[in-house]
Amino acid sequence: MKVTIQSKSGELSFECEVGENLLYAGLRNGLSLPYECATGTCGTCRARVMEGEPEIGWSEAPGLSYVKQEKREVLMCQATAQGDCTLRVPAKVADGGGRGVAPEYGTGTIARVEKLTHDVMVFAVDLDTPMRFDAGQFVVVETGAVPGGRAYSMINYEDGAAVLEFVVKQKPDGRFSDWLFGDDRTGETVRIFGPLGRATFHPEEGKNVLCIGGGSGIAGIMSILAKAAGEGYFSDRRGYVFFGVRTAEDTFFMDELSAHAAAAPDNLEVVVALSDEDVPPALERKYSALTFATGLVHTVAAERMAGRWDDLIAYVAGPPPMVDGALRMLIIEARLPGTDIRYDKFG
Ligand SMILES: Cc1cc2nc3c(=O)[nH]c(=O)nc-3n(C[C@H](O)[C@H](O)[C@H](O)COP(=O)(O)OP(=O)(O)OC[C@H]3O[C@@H](n4cnc5c(N)ncnc54)[C@H](O)[C@@H]3O)c2cc1C
Ligand code: FES
Repeated sequence: MKVTIQSKSGELSFECEVGENLLYAGLRNGLSLPYECATGTCGTCRARVMEGEPEIGWSEAPGLSYVKQEKREVLMCQATAQGDCTLRVPAKVADGGGRGVAPEYGTGTIARVEKLTHDVMVFAVDLDTPMRFDAGQFVVVETGAVPGGRAYSMINYEDGAAVLEFVVKQKPDGRFSDWLFGDDRTGETVRIFGPLGRATFHPEEGKNVLCIGGGSGIAGIMSILAKAAGEGYFSDRRGYVFFGVRTAEDTFFMDELSAHAAAAPDNLEVVVALSDEDVPPALERKYSALTFATGLVHTVAAERMAGRWDDLIAYVAGPPPMVDGALRMLIIEARLPGTDIRYDKFG
C-alpha cells in the first residue's frame, strides 16, 4: 500500500503494510515525520487526511485534543493504513539524511526485573536482533497483556546492543506499570519499535552537558553518562547532572551516579534534589561523591547553574510539569537557544 505525505518541503511517499501504524511506517522508511511521544499524548504527529480512510486506534488518546477531527485530522501514531492514503503534514519532511538509524520492529524477552524502590523497577530485554541507538533515545514497548505501546528510554548504552535496559516508575492505575509490577515478568515476550527520539547525546558536538531528570526521567541521562564515560568525555568537558526525587526513600541509581561522579571529580557534578524533605545527613555521608539539595529539581538547577550557562547542551526528561518548568528556566533565565535544549516529556 502506498502512503503519500504532502509537507512544507514537497511530496514524498512510502510503502506501508495493511494495518500498520502510519507514523512508524513512515519513520522506518526513513522519513523525518514530526513526533515526540510516539504514543498518543503530545499531538506533534498531527496530519490531515486528504485521501483514503486510515483507521483510528485509540479513540481516547490525549493527543487528540490537539487535532481538529471535523477537518479529518488524525494522530499518525494512533492511525493505521487500510488502503492507499494521502496525508498533509504541517511541517517540513525529509527523506533520509537524519541523525541515527531508522527505527525497526523487533522482539525480545524480558530477562531481568529488579525493584529499586517501592515504585521503581528496572527491567532488561534480551533482543532477538541487536539494535543500534543513540544515547538518550527510547523505544515503544508492547506486551500482548496491555493495549497500546509504551515509550521507555534506554538506561544502558552500547553500539549494537543485544540487551536494552529500562527503568519504570509505577503509575497509579497505570496499565503497563501495574502489569510489570504485578508479577514476575521474566520470560515474557515483548514487541519493540525503535530507536526513537531526538534528545540524543553526540560527543562530536563537544559542548558541556547539563542533564535535568525527574524520577524515571533519569533513564536517558544514565545512557548519556554511560556513553560519555566510555569516551572519556568529562576529561576536558564539564557535566552537570540534576536528579530530582521526592524523598531519600525514592532515590535510586545512587551507586551508579556516585561511580560516574568519582570517575571525573573535577568536571562532573551530580546533584540529587529532594523536593519533599530535608536531606538526611546519613544520605550525604553514604554518597560523598554526590551533592544533595532540597527543592524542585529545576529550581535547584537554576540556582546552582547561575553564571555557568555558556557552551552547553541541556537534556531534560521526566513528568510534564517538571519538564515544562525546566524548559521555561532554560529559555527565560539561561537564554539557551532551542537547538541546545533537548527533552522528553514522560506523559
Ligand atoms: C518519550 C518518552 C519516554 C518515556 N520514558 C519513560 C521511562 O524511561 N520510564 C518511565 O517510567 N516512563 C517513561 N515514559 C512514560 C511511559 O511511556 C508511560 O506513560 C508510563 O510508564 C505509564 O504507563 P502505564 O501503562 O503504567 O499508564 P497508562 O495510564 O495505562 O498509560 C500511559 C500511556 O500509555 C499509552 N496508552 C494508554 N492506553 C493506551 C491505549 N489503549 N492504546 C494506545 N496507547 C495507550 C499512552 O501513551 C498513555 O499516555 C516515557 C514517555 C515518553 C513519551
Ligand atoms: S507523537 Fe503522536 S501524539 Fe505524540
